[in-house]
Amino acid sequence: MHCHLAGEDKGLWTPLLRWSIFGLAGLVFAFGFYRTTSVWTTRTPWKPISVRAVDWVDERYQVKKPLEAVLSKPVPKFALRWWYCLGGITAFLFVIQAVTGIMLAFYYKPTPEHALASIQFIETEVRFGASIRAIHHWAANGMIVMCIAHMLRVFIVGAYKAPRELNWVNGVVLLILVLAFGFTGYLLPWDQRAFWATTVGSEIAGSIPVVGELLLVFLRVGWTVSELTLSRFYALHIILLPILTLAMMGLHFLMIRRQGIAQPL
Ligand code: HEM
Repeated sequence: MHCHLAGEDKGLWTPLLRWSIFGLAGLVFAFGFYRTTSVWTTRTPWKPISVRAVDWVDERYQVKKPLEAVLSKPVPKFALRWWYCLGGITAFLFVIQAVTGIMLAFYYKPTPEHALASIQFIETEVRFGASIRAIHHWAANGMIVMCIAHMLRVFIVGAYKAPRELNWVNGVVLLILVLAFGFTGYLLPWDQRAFWATTVGSEIAGSIPVVGELLLVFLRVGWTVSELTLSRFYALHIILLPILTLAMMGLHFLMIRRQGIAQPL
C-alpha cells in the first residue's frame, strides 16, 4: 500500500482486495474467539443471532407457541413422494407470480396508448425487466400445468372422496381462478395477439348457454373489446383474482390441516 500512501494511484485493487481478505479473516477469528470464550465462561450453548432475535420477540409478544401449534405438523411418510408435492409447487409458483407481478406493475401502464410501449420499455430498458417478465410468463404456464397435474394426482389416488368432497370443489374454483389469471393477463400487452385472443376467448364465453351473453358483456364491458376491457382485465388480474385466490387457497389449506392428507390406496 506504500505507493498509494506516497500518492501514486496505480494498481489500487490488489492491495485493497488483500486488506479486505485479511481484515475479514481477522473478524472471523475475533468472532470465533469471542464465541468460544463466551461458551466457556457462561457454560451455556452458543445462540446464533437468529435464535436470539426470535427469543427477543417471543419474550415481548409470546408468539412462538401459537405459531408452533400452527406450523409444526409432521408430514406423513407416504406423502413424501413427488406426486404429493404438486399442490405445494402450485402454491410456490403463485408466490413467484405475486412477486414478479408486483415488480411488473411498477412499470406497466394499463391504457391502450401506453400498454404496449410500457411492455417494450420493461423488455429493453428496465434492469432485469426482460427476465422478470419471462419468469412471470413461464411461471404462469407452469402454474396451470402443476395445478392440473395436482388435480390428476388427487383424482388418481381417490383423495376427492368423503370427507374431502368440498376441498375438491374448492380446488375446481382454484383451477378456474388460475385459468382466469392466464386469460386476463394475456390481454395486458395490448398487441394484436392479445386483442384477438381476448376477442376469441370472450366469444367462446359468450357461447355458454343461458349466462353466455351476460358473461361476454361483463368481460368486454360492452359488445366489443375496447379500452374498457383492458381496464377491467387489469383490475381483475391484479385485484379481484389475487384476493379470491388467496382466500380460496387459505380455505384449501385449512381443510387439508383439519382432515390430513388422504391415506394412499
Ligand atoms: C391454486 C391451485 C391449488 C393449490 C395451490 C393447491 C394446493 C394443495 C396442497 C398444497 C395440497 C396438499 C397435498 C398435495 O400437495 O398434494 C392440496 C391437497 C388437495 N387438493 Fe389442492 N391445490 C390447488 C388446486 C386444486 C385443484 C384444481 C383440485 C381439484 C379439483 C384440488 C383438490 C385437492 C384435494 C381434494 C386435496 C386433498 C388431497 C389429499 O388429502 O390427499 N386442489 N392442494
